[in-house]
Amino acid sequence: MIRACTLTELPAWTQFLNEAFQYGANEGSYAVDFAPLFEEDSLKNSRLYIEDGKILSSATVYPVEMQIRSGEKYKIGIIGAVATAEAARGRGLSTAVLQSVEDVAKKLKLSALVLWSDQLEFYSKFGFHAFGNQQVHALGAYTVNNPVLGKRAAGWRLPSVEKLYGLHAQKNIRDQKYWNALLKVRSCEKWSWISPEGEVLAYVGLGRGKDMHNVIHEWAGNALALKALVADLCSERVDLLWLTSSLLTDPIRDSLNAPPILNSHLALLKNLDVESTIQEQELWFWGLDSL
Ligand SMILES: CC(C)(COP(=O)(O)OP(=O)(O)OC[C@H]1O[C@@H](n2cnc3c(N)ncnc32)[C@H](O)[C@@H]1OP(=O)(O)O)[C@@H](O)C(=O)NCCC(=O)NCCS
Repeated sequence: MIRACTLTELPAWTQFLNEAFQYGANEGSYAVDFAPLFEEDSLKNSRLYIEDGKILSSATVYPVEMQIRSGEKYKIGIIGAVATAEAARGRGLSTAVLQSVEDVAKKLKLSALVLWSDQLEFYSKFGFHAFGNQQVHALGAYTVNNPVLGKRAAGWRLPSVEKLYGLHAQKNIRDQKYWNALLKVRSCEKWSWISPEGEVLAYVGLGRGKDMHNVIHEWAGNALALKALVADLCSERVDLLWLTSSLLTDPIRDSLNAPPILNSHLALLKNLDVESTIQEQELWFWGLDSL
């Protein structure tokens, strides 16, 4: 039977995902690292394959509205929690669950599905292809001359951070609920640069879950303040990475001398609406949107 997860089944689904994605005892939980997918409101879009009362396979779709540089917006779905219990793999369960999730997306009138995975071979069977661009730079001993006055503070103060994020031309339109869910992602370190007057000038998100260790994947704010914040973090750690894209206006990348250590596609995409002219090469997701 394939159906949505109920609130009472959420602990069982969480445990299932922690096993499938091999979370160790001290590695937190998939449901915390990808918190928006597991909000009560989101569960209706999930699909579980259940046999004899046990969850054997799952996937979910999280609808978002994306804005590209031109200001054009698209309603698309981010796919997450794709997993099958080890003992049940190779039986076509993931195929069935992904088909059911695609039906959900079509009912929601989404133009495309997007997911983050290095398993292109698996997902190309379902019609996904690679798109977009992402670059990763090693920050090393990043320093700035005469850093802008201020100090680093832990945490993100809403709504100041929301306002800075809103200045990006390419983004996911985040509502209050979504921001609140993102604040629950404990594995993402949240840092800000505060002026002597107490104003939030820049912020970053560092790390998330098992796949973004040491990566500054979300950032915004005044260019000089952002540089001061990044330099301050780099004064304590030499292994930080900077996630960016050829599409973005990025003051940090522009002040680095070395080429990126990674320059690749951004994610995988499947168009659902044959009529839509989605400019997929222009899509960009900030790290906490890559659910
Ligand atoms: C990847 C995963 C979800 C596949 O689940 P599954 O239920 O075994 O998948 P299916 O049986 O529906 O397989 C569908 C097709 O993909 C193929 N396939 C399965 N796993 C694959 C893999 N890792 N790479 C390439 N092809 C794969 C199957 O052979 C099958 O092909 P066919 O239709 O030509 O016979 C499962 O192995 C898993 O849970 N892995 C750990 C978690 C994970 O990596 N999730 C995805 C990360 S985004």
